Parts: sequence; C-alpha cells; structure tokens
Amino acid sequence: MQAITVQDREAGAGGLVLGELPHPHAAENDVIVQVHAAGFTPGELDWPGTWTDRAGRDRTPSVPGHELSGVVTELGYGTTGLTIGQRVYGLTDWARNGTLAQYTAVEARNLAPLPADVDHVTAAALPISGLTAWQALFDHAHLQTGQSVLIHGAAGGVGSIAVQLARAAGAQVIGTGRAGDRDTALGLGAHAFVDLQAEKLEDIGEVDVVLDVIGGAILERSTALVRPGGTLVTITEPVTVHPRDGRAVFFVVEPDRVRLSDLAHRVRDGRLNPMIGDVRPLTEAVAAFTPDKRTHGKTIIRVAED
Ligand SMILES: NC(=O)c1ccc[n+]([C@@H]2O[C@H](COP(=O)([O-])OP(=O)(O)OC[C@H]3O[C@@H](n4cnc5c(N)ncnc54)[C@H](OP(=O)(O)O)[C@@H]3O)[C@@H](O)[C@H]2O)c1
Repeated sequence: MQAITVQDREAGAGGLVLGELPHPHAAENDVIVQVHAAGFTPGELDWPGTWTDRAGRDRTPSVPGHELSGVVTELGYGTTGLTIGQRVYGLTDWARNGTLAQYTAVEARNLAPLPADVDHVTAAALPISGLTAWQALFDHAHLQTGQSVLIHGAAGGVGSIAVQLARAAGAQVIGTGRAGDRDTALGLGAHAFVDLQAEKLEDIGEVDVVLDVIGGAILERSTALVRPGGTLVTITEPVTVHPRDGRAVFFVVEPDRVRLSDLAHRVRDGRLNPMIGDVRPLTEAVAAFTPDKRTHGKTIIRVAED
C-alpha cells in the first residue's frame, strides 16, 4: 500500500517520503480501515511518538497523521461494535503508524460510526479539534450554561469548534485572534472578539473559563482573567502559573467513541461546522506539511474517492 513515512526524524517535513509499505496487520481489538480522508497536525513531526513506540524504541519508517475517516475492511480478534464495510472516523494512537496511508490498523474503541450523510473530508477534520474542544470546555473546565468563556485562537482548528460548542451550551463567548479572524469568530457564534495584536486582553474583565491554544505570554496573561473558582485550561504546555483563586489544567486529547458520535450528529444537523482548508491528494501530503501560503482551516489529505 502507499503511505507517507518518516525516514529521517531530524529532517522535519524534509524527512517525509511517499512510498510502499506492507499492508497493516490487525492485532487483537484492532480493525483495519481503508482511509478515505486523513488529517495531520503540522507540529507532529516534532513529537517523539511520531517515530518511537511507547517504550521509546525507534519505529521508523513510521506513518504520521492521527485523524481518519474511512471504511472498515478487516476485524481483528475480539473487536466489538464495528462491522466490515462500516463507515467510521476517529483519532488513532500517537505511538503507532498513523493515517497518511491507504490502510491503517486502529483499536476499534477509538473509532465511531460515521453517518452516511457526513462526508469523509468533513469527518477527518473533526477528531482532534472536536475532541480537544469538548474535553477542554466540558470535561476539564466544567463549563456551564450562563458562564463566560474566553477562547483564544477562535478562528483556528480547536478554537473554531470550541466557540460553536460553547455557544450551543449557552455560554457567553469571547474569542481572540488576529484582526483578520474577527469576522470568522463572530460568525461562528462568539459574542465578542479581542484582536490580540491591537486590543488589550485585560479589558474584558474576569471570565469563568479560559481556553488557551496559544501558550507563552498569552497563557500567562490569561491567568489573571480567571474569576475566583474558575478554570484556565490549556492544550499547549504544562502550566507553571495558576489563577490566584482557580484551577489550571493542561491535558492531551484522548480518543472517545461516544463523544465522536455526538460530534458527527452535530455536524449532520448543521449545528457544528469544522473549518476545512486545503484538500490535497496523498501524493501532495509531504508538501502539505510546509504550505507556501497561510491557509484558514484544517488541511485534509484525500486518500481515496468514495
Ligand atoms: N494538547 C492537546 O491535546 C492538543 C490538541 C490539539 C492541538 N494542540 C495544539 O494546540 C495548538 C493549537 O492547535 P490548533 O489546531 O487550534 O491550531 P491552529 O488551527 O493554528 O489555531 C491557532 C489559532 O490561534 C491563532 N494564533 C496563534 N498565535 C497567535 C497570536 N500570537 N496572536 C493571535 N492569534 C494567534 C492562529 O492564527 P495564525 O494561524 O494566524 O497564527 C490560529 O487562528 C497547536 O500548538 C496544537 O499542536 C494540542
């Protein structure tokens, strides 16, 4: 099968190659999925799990990409809940071969059925951004109806989904980003927007929840904005500064079949719109890691036609 592999782990995107790999093996509890559309994270080539197993042993040539939408073609021993020919989507293991390939082995529990009327490209844009946004707002920050939430990077992958989910939950939503992101954030449902380059973040006053996707100085300055009893949740780096009278949480997104199903139904009903950027074939996946222009929305690799 054809796959993108990391050949040289020091070379970034320059170490990626499109070539032939053996068809994957379905281990216990795995399914094999024919990948129709795949997502990747631009920064993942810096993650050790991209080229090592859980014990830290080199597993190059390894396949990057951890988001997929496709069709089940084989069931490993002991898999439950999925059938051959079923449309599925989900988030794959960080320390195994990933989704920039024609086929991949995934633990069945990490995949959710995909409704027939949600297309593979849209579904492939959801697993990381959708699960991260949900887990940040509701599992870690326990956002409630009527509370206020500051969402940094509101026009980005995680932020754009978080704005829609928070608004649907009845929260008061303030988005941030660059000047050109204002209309996108407000269009997604933010009640207000702060241009981080031109406006003073501190002018918003206190909020119940901050969701940080930027880190650094923005993360530090945001701690002072958390109301007593509130939560700052970040996905960028372990927290070293805490709100004076609140919690600070850093987490890494986890697979969740039930939540994936809920997100797919929101997309199907038109309540959630993931932002799709470039859609490119597998032959252009290496180039997609280093785009020559800034693109809005998630880049998706179209591996197979429906
Ligand atoms: N811990 C986890 O489980 C987890 C999960 C998902 C993602 N992540 C990480 O979280 C980060 C965000 O992911 P994402 O997919 O949402 O990225 P993204 O699509 O690039 O979104 C980030 C948004 O923030 C904006 N932004 C960044 N720095 C800014 C600044 N200084 N001022 C104003 N706006 C700024 C970006 O604008 P520009 O595009 O103009 O820079 C973009 O709109 C990445 O580092 C990613 O690796 C972590």
